[in-house]
Amino acid sequence: MQIIRRVDRLRSAVSLLRRQGGEVALVPTMGALHAGHMQLVREAKQRADHVVASIFVNPMQFGANEDLDAYPRQEEADAAMLSEAGVAILWAPDVDQVYPAGFATNVSVAGVSDGLCGAARPGHFDGVATIVAKLFNQVQPDMALFGEKDYQQLAVIRTMARDLNFGLDIIGVPTVRDADGLALSSRNAYLTSEQRAAAAMLPRAMQAGIAVIEAGGPVGEATRGIEQALLAAGFASVDYVTLADAATLQPMEIADRPARLLVAARIGSTRLIDNMPVNAR
Ligand code: PAJ
Repeated sequence: MQIIRRVDRLRSAVSLLRRQGGEVALVPTMGALHAGHMQLVREAKQRADHVVASIFVNPMQFGANEDLDAYPRQEEADAAMLSEAGVAILWAPDVDQVYPAGFATNVSVAGVSDGLCGAARPGHFDGVATIVAKLFNQVQPDMALFGEKDYQQLAVIRTMARDLNFGLDIIGVPTVRDADGLALSSRNAYLTSEQRAAAAMLPRAMQAGIAVIEAGGPVGEATRGIEQALLAAGFASVDYVTLADAATLQPMEIADRPARLLVAARIGSTRLIDNMPVNAR
């Protein structure tokens, strides 16, 4: 596996891969890799001949009071995992390769970026859309893979890729979970063992709420039940519990078409998110 930090070198390495024939898949990450990220890599290996993974902790998608400086960084361990998994290129750009002096461009996807995490984290999805657009242009892959774990992010990227004619396939990969159901996340590393145990209430409460909705119970009752269960388990606060249209992410009062239940809640100062499909009645 080649580790590349400059755009000109990336370009020549990718064209060398292309000359060997076959398709190129991109797996963008911010590093601190876990089994969820590695599932994206495995899926990419199955679908494409060459896999490029990127690691870049993108300052533009972190708010002023967020965890940019504390975000876990472990490039050597990450590189070993990616190499073992058969990744051809690790694109780990220097900051000036991504944000050269005078950088002035912003990619903003209206509508789908606005509610849910977009409301709680102003500017976050502009930061995501801008870096992902840059990664698509830098690598020029045939496909890119993203986790359903970040469901709103996936919806923002699908919309951007369609609107701007990126001409590549966006592939969503189901969430990888720990044995107790908690979705794997680099931010789980912030949890104390007590908080980690309490965090298992998140998927459990969501499943209970979904059972209520799928049995025809009122959506408001189900979402309030989830919020109460989280606070009772020791969560500090609940940002949102929302049933939304699976494609547009518009909130829904009645589960009359394919939907997604999305939750963001804080345990201590750590913000956890999760989402699950809800079947229409
Ligand atoms: P990061 O949080 O590192 O996640 C990289 C990719 O891994 C994302 O597509 C995310 O949805 C996926 N992922 C994370 N946890 C997962 C899990 N438990 N199961 C399945 N997939 C999971 O998301 C980002 O980085 C950034 O916003 C990025 C897209 C790289 C842009 O900076």
